[in-house]
Amino acid sequence: MTMRKPMMAGNWKMNKTPAEATELALAIREAVGHIADVECVVCPTFVSLATVCKTLDGSNIRVGAQNVHWADSGAYTGEVSPPMLKGLADYVIIGHSERREYFGDTDELVNKKVLAALKHELKVILCVGETLAQNEAKQTHELVSYQVATALAGVADRQMANVVIAYEPVWAIGTGRAATATQAQTVCCDTVRFTLRGIYGDEIANAVRVLYGGSTNPNNIAEIMQQADIDGALIGGASLKAEDYAAMVNTTASVYA
Ligand code: PGA
Repeated sequence: MTMRKPMMAGNWKMNKTPAEATELALAIREAVGHIADVECVVCPTFVSLATVCKTLDGSNIRVGAQNVHWADSGAYTGEVSPPMLKGLADYVIIGHSERREYFGDTDELVNKKVLAALKHELKVILCVGETLAQNEAKQTHELVSYQVATALAGVADRQMANVVIAYEPVWAIGTGRAATATQAQTVCCDTVRFTLRGIYGDEIANAVRVLYGGSTNPNNIAEIMQQADIDGALIGGASLKAEDYAAMVNTTASVYA
């Protein structure tokens, strides 16, 4: 079996002022900054990247952005480019369902952003996942497979070392209704990894980390992390509380010990 290092990534969404983000980052650093066996990533808003980066400097915790534009620079008011994130973020979340729903991030745009981020050596957390209606219509496999393949069009084999995929069923995000561990495992294995295998072959498909996201918390994380094809979580609400986030990191460390 391939050993994939587990990842607990906190998506802070549009929460926390820079001062509050600094405080949260400090509390997280004190709680889990020494942990080496779980890759911890926190993703604050753009305006807090610099202070969070500084607060976490010298710890094991990595920083991610929540979005990126595909161009290097230009007349794109309000946007932030990959070169601007260099030195402030190791990771960038791309294709989150909230971006797809509210900000017009289509599969094609997601693909452009993925290619741009990888070109500038940012690591990508690519989000995919079906809505409730798609789930009920039994379109999950087809849709998620399409999202993965489209987002990765043109991504070279060697670049896949810098890609993490987060399966986040839209109906589970922020609803308190997580997918069951078995449901999540099935999609992560039979759809996400299966699709990767078709494109990149066994070795790469087995090496890519696949996260689950959607209402994860300290109570359900152990069962999720025990699944063979789930290598971590993308955590929204629970990542805003240092104690909850730390509990999830510690649980993951013990599941993998
Ligand atoms: P949640 O969010 O943990 O609050 O459900 C997950 C996400 O949107 O990444």
